[in-house]
Amino acid sequence: MKGILICGGTGSRLKPLTEITNKSLLPVYDKPLIHYPLETLLKAGIREIAVVTGSEHLDQIAAYLGSGSKFDCKFAFKVQEHPGGIAEALGLAEEFAAGESVCAILGDNVFFDDLTTVIKGFKSGAHVFLKSVDDPERFGVAELQDNRVLSIEEKPKKPRSNFAITGCYLYDNRCFECIRTMHPSARGELEITDVSKWYLGKGELAATILEHEWIDAGTFESLFEAATLVRNRRKK
Ligand code: G1P
Repeated sequence: MKGILICGGTGSRLKPLTEITNKSLLPVYDKPLIHYPLETLLKAGIREIAVVTGSEHLDQIAAYLGSGSKFDCKFAFKVQEHPGGIAEALGLAEEFAAGESVCAILGDNVFFDDLTTVIKGFKSGAHVFLKSVDDPERFGVAELQDNRVLSIEEKPKKPRSNFAITGCYLYDNRCFECIRTMHPSARGELEITDVSKWYLGKGELAATILEHEWIDAGTFESLFEAATLVRNRRKK
C-alpha cells in the first residue's frame, strides 16, 4: 500500500497565518501539523509516500520533509497547479501508486486513534473512518445502519447523522478509474466524497467509527484545540 499525503488548499480560514506558510507547516504544540498525518502513515508501516501540494508551497514542504530519510521513508512530490479538490489531488498520484492500494490522508487531519490495524488489514474496496461531531454540516457525512454505510453526502445542509467522514481514506487501485470519469461539483472541485460514493454504489464501502479525538485543523479554534490535546497527551 502507498501513502498519499494531501496538502492542498489555500488555508483561507487561517489567514493571515497561511499568508506565507502552508497550513500543514503551522505549529501544533511542538511539531508542524503535517507530522501528525505523516505519523499515522508511518505507524501503519507505509514507507512510500507521495506528497501533493500547490505550486506556491511546494518549496517549503519539500524543504521541510526532504527525501524522507529523516523519517525512514521515501517521498515523491506532486504539484496540484490549481485547487481542484481532494480527489483531483489523489488522481495526480496514479502513476506513483503503480497498481497498489492507497491510504490517502489530509495534511491537516490529526488522529488520536491508532489506525494501524485497519490500514494493515485492508484488502479491497474502500474504507473510511467516522467520528461523531457536533457540527457535521462542515464535513462529508455518513448515514449508518447497523455499522453499515447507507448514504454519504458532502457538507449537507441537513445532515442525516452526526458522523463526519474524516480525512483518511483507504481505496484499492480502482479509485483512479473512478477519478478519471468524475466531474467537478458545484464548488468546482473533484470531491473525495464522490470517490467513496462510487464504492458505496458497488456495496464496497466499509467504515470504522473512531473512539478518540479527531481534528480537522483548518480553523483557528480547531488548530488551537489540536495543540491543546497534543500538549495534554505529552504531559500524561
Ligand atoms: C474535506 C472533505 C470532507 C471531509 C473533510 C475532513 O473537507 O471534502 O468530506 O469530511 O475534508 O477533514 P474540506 O476540509 O476540504 O472542507
